[in-house]
Amino acid sequence: MKNVVVTGSQWGDEGKGKIVDWLSSEADIIVRFQGGHNAGHTLVIDDKVFKLHLLPSGIIRKNKISIIGNGVVIDPWALSNEIDELRSKGIEITENNLFISDTANLILPIHKEMDEIREDQAGKSKIGTTRRGIGPAYEDKVGRRGIRVGDLASESALNQKLEKILLHHNSIRKGLEKKIYNKDQIKKELLDIAPKILKYSMPIWKKLDEFKSKKILFEGAQGVLLDVDHGTYPFVTSSNTVSAAAAIGSGCGANRIDYVLGITKAYTTRVGEGPFPTELKDSIGAKIGDKGKEFGTTTSRKRRCGWLDGILVRQSVKISGINGIALTKLDVLDELEEIKMCVSYELKGKKIDYLPSSIEEQLNLKPIYKSFEGWKCSTKGIKKFNDLPDKAKIYIKDIEKFVETKISCISTSPERKDTILIEDPFNI
Ligand code: IMP
Repeated sequence: MKNVVVTGSQWGDEGKGKIVDWLSSEADIIVRFQGGHNAGHTLVIDDKVFKLHLLPSGIIRKNKISIIGNGVVIDPWALSNEIDELRSKGIEITENNLFISDTANLILPIHKEMDEIREDQAGKSKIGTTRRGIGPAYEDKVGRRGIRVGDLASESALNQKLEKILLHHNSIRKGLEKKIYNKDQIKKELLDIAPKILKYSMPIWKKLDEFKSKKILFEGAQGVLLDVDHGTYPFVTSSNTVSAAAAIGSGCGANRIDYVLGITKAYTTRVGEGPFPTELKDSIGAKIGDKGKEFGTTTSRKRRCGWLDGILVRQSVKISGINGIALTKLDVLDELEEIKMCVSYELKGKKIDYLPSSIEEQLNLKPIYKSFEGWKCSTKGIKKFNDLPDKAKIYIKDIEKFVETKISCISTSPERKDTILIEDPFNI
């Protein structure tokens, strides 16, 4: 049996939705292990459109188990709304197909508000977060004052924990001259929502242990360059997005991971602020954005677009242990005369082949490109590698060589069937 982790190899939005949907049809169990409702993708199944933010993709399919692991931060109201919305579209969600870790931390209204206050006050140095409270909730988790799913079962536990968390937040809020939060009000809101969440709550590590003989898909959110340790810090999200987080964020051993599939867009995009060496602020960037429909699923923000950065993808391959790449949105490049891939950077007159850790240096990198002739014909819907135009094959083979891992599938349109499959991660 193979267990597969799907990880984004860029700044998120690599087109994971389609790949995860295909893989979840093969898996028995689908696990979210980090992030929160900052993530988002749209799945189209039998002409019905489903927007997912927090629930694993498997929830849309019959006879699959969906798990939200301890590494995820959960806004209980957002989760409850997402469940209700999917139910209204005929999706069955019960205690038999959804399990939530009792040790996952909750996102509270104070977290969302703190995210907004900080972003509004940061001026030019804002991160460009999704403003959903993700960062402040993770801060309280590592600050050991977080409130967890299991705490919803006990009013006395909530009382104690709310005192602790509000002591911290209200002190900061006082300093910022913001309204002081009242414990009883939050407690009431939490106790009201509790039954909707608690029915799915359990020790997930135990469940995963029971599922030893099943195929598990660990569904990563965001991408390696948004990882809090390995990304373009501080312009990152607040969780570890690399594949290793799948084990920690769900409660199984690292030896349960058999294959890491890295999703890579044939060009690069990023939402929010932060360094982006290959960004195109010209008409080519705009053309890619229009054709690729580059707007965020969660915040509808326009994504910044640029050439593929081979240096960054290669770094992600190493850090996240990527065994194979799913190359997405190749068709978006179909009409371009010339296509470029960054193969090195120049920094203060010197050539370097990795992303330096300092943000100042990251902002001053000058990309050095390899140029490819555009294939100037449609690749949309192609299902066999040999049917691709020769110039597209050259681009793909060069990426494969440069990033030092194989390309295991190529997506040639948003349709699930339009995929060139070279290696099926579940059946190697
Ligand atoms: P946060 O995760 O809301 O704190 O946002 C931190 C950074 O991560 C911002 O640049 C966001 O735009 C980015 N981000 C968070 N989630 C996603 C995602 O699912 N796709 C792409 N970018 C994301």
